[in-house]
This record gives sequence, structure tokens and C-alpha cells, in this order.
Amino acid sequence: MINGETRVTGIFGDPVAHTLSPAMHNAAFTALGLNFVYLPFHVRREALAAAVAGIKALGLAGVNITVPHKEAVLPLLDEVAEEARLIGAVNTVVNRGGALVGYNTDATGFLRALQEAGFDPAGRPAVVIGAGGAARAVVVALARAGVGEITIFNRTLSRAAALAELVRAEGIAAAALSWADLTGAGKKVVAQAALVVQTTSLGMHPQEEDAPPVPPEALGPGQLVVDLIYSPPETRFLRLARAAGATTQNGMAMLLHQGAAAFELWTGREAPVGVMRAALENVLR
Ligand code: ATR
Repeated sequence: MINGETRVTGIFGDPVAHTLSPAMHNAAFTALGLNFVYLPFHVRREALAAAVAGIKALGLAGVNITVPHKEAVLPLLDEVAEEARLIGAVNTVVNRGGALVGYNTDATGFLRALQEAGFDPAGRPAVVIGAGGAARAVVVALARAGVGEITIFNRTLSRAAALAELVRAEGIAAAALSWADLTGAGKKVVAQAALVVQTTSLGMHPQEEDAPPVPPEALGPGQLVVDLIYSPPETRFLRLARAAGATTQNGMAMLLHQGAAAFELWTGREAPVGVMRAALENVLR
């Protein structure tokens, strides 16, 4: 029950109406009997600074930050964790006695999702398709986990090159290849990868049936193929990968585990992952 001692958390985004996070977090608070609530806040770009000041003014316990504020929020915080600074994006803010600390739990969430699939990236070759914000969290996570090498394919080669540079600065071998290389010289690189991660928005609109031009014969048994999209639950790309014999995982696992990591930062309690997963599955159904 909401009363005078309820701690408030939530999410700042624009749009925010589609968010699945309230279902996941409120189910978790209830399951552990914590007097917390999680609310959606529709925050427009021009209102972000006022909204962040409001975390302190209203004494919120913390918030998630989503599109389009993940980068813009950094200079508004008192402290930013090193990994979030490296990624250049914050998705979780914790109010520590009036000091706002920014974290990026997307990276942790991605690694926990790999762990759930029984995959250890240490020393193994990985391919990342796309070079936007989501790809940035993925490559930093993989670099921190000691991945063998990363090859990044992107439509805009310069963005892939910048991301490869970031990975090399972490002491991991990295290369950037163009979109066209997926069907050419890069096909062998995909075939030799232990992990392939699709981070672009291609496939999000099933009626368009879009997918990155990865030749299906480059995918097969022994590979883990991850698509960060969770709606639809199986993109055309993931379907091709599964048909080729690869193990596949959609974006729900990362969504779940980034939420679990944020929950732990706010409450100091181990997240009830099973409860959170069931809540997500229920709203996605
Ligand atoms: P996110 O935070 O979800 O990663 P983003 O930062 O806008 O979003 O990045 C979107 C990614 O999807 C980029 O890699 C983008 O490629 P470009 O860097 O060339 O823009 C990729 N992407 C989006 N639409 C695409 C399309 N129609 N074809 C190929 N790549 C696309």
C-alpha cells in the first residue's frame, strides 16, 4: 500500500507510454514486500534538467533514464560511474542522500543475459552489428569481460571505426567493417565468431521484414546469436539464425537483467529475477 513512507522510483523518457519497466519493478517490489513504487514520467528534452533537479527536490530514490536522455543526463549528475562514462550514457540514477549518481546497467544486463545463455565471452571472437548507443554498451561490456576480439559492422563505417577505437583503448583487438562487407570479405569473420550481436533497429517492424544482410550460411551450430530486439520476440534475423542451427536469444534477457541491476542499486536487495521475468512476459503477451 502507498503511504507516507513509500519510496518513489520511475523512468524518464520521451516517449514513455510503451515502457515495460513499471510492470517489472512494481512486481519485484511487491514480491519482496518493499515499500517502493515505480512510475513512468514523460519528460521532454527541454524539461530534462528540471526533472533531474526534481529527483532531489522530491526525494525520489532513483530513476531509469531512457531515449532520448541517456547521453544528455550525464552533465546534470553529481557523479557518473566509470563504466557509464566510458559508454557515454546513463540508464540508472541513484539518489544517495541528495547526491545523484549515474550508472549504466545495460552493460551489466547484457553480460548477465549472456551468462543466462551459458556463454562466457572471455577469449572468444565476437561480431557486433550496428554502432549506435546500444552497441556501445555491448562492446564496453564485452571488452570488460575479456572478449577475444570484436568486429563491428555498421551501415555508417565511421561510427563502427569510432567504436572499434574505444574497444582498442580497453586493450582488446577490434576492427570495423562496412555493411557491404557482410556479404563479402566479412562473411568469414561472422562464420568464425562465437557470438553475434544484432543491435540495430532492423526487424523491429515485422511488416517490413528487415534484417541485416548476414548470409545465413555464415551462422550455425556452436554460435550464440543475440538480437537486442524483444518485440517481435523473434526477428527475421533471429529466425534465420535459429534455422541455421545457432543458439539464439532475444532482447528480453538484457531488458530483464538491466532492470534487475537497477533494482539492486536502488534497494540494496538481490532482485527477484523470476518474478521480474514473469511480469515482463505477462505484459509482452
Ligand atoms: P540505439 O541506441 O538503439 O543503438 P542509435 O544510436 O540510433 O540507436 O543506433 C541505431 C543503429 O542502427 C546504428 O548502428 C544505425 O546505423 P547507422 O550508424 O549507419 O545510422 C543502425 N540502423 C538503423 N536503421 C538502419 C537501417 N535501415 N539500415 C542499417 N542500419 C540501420
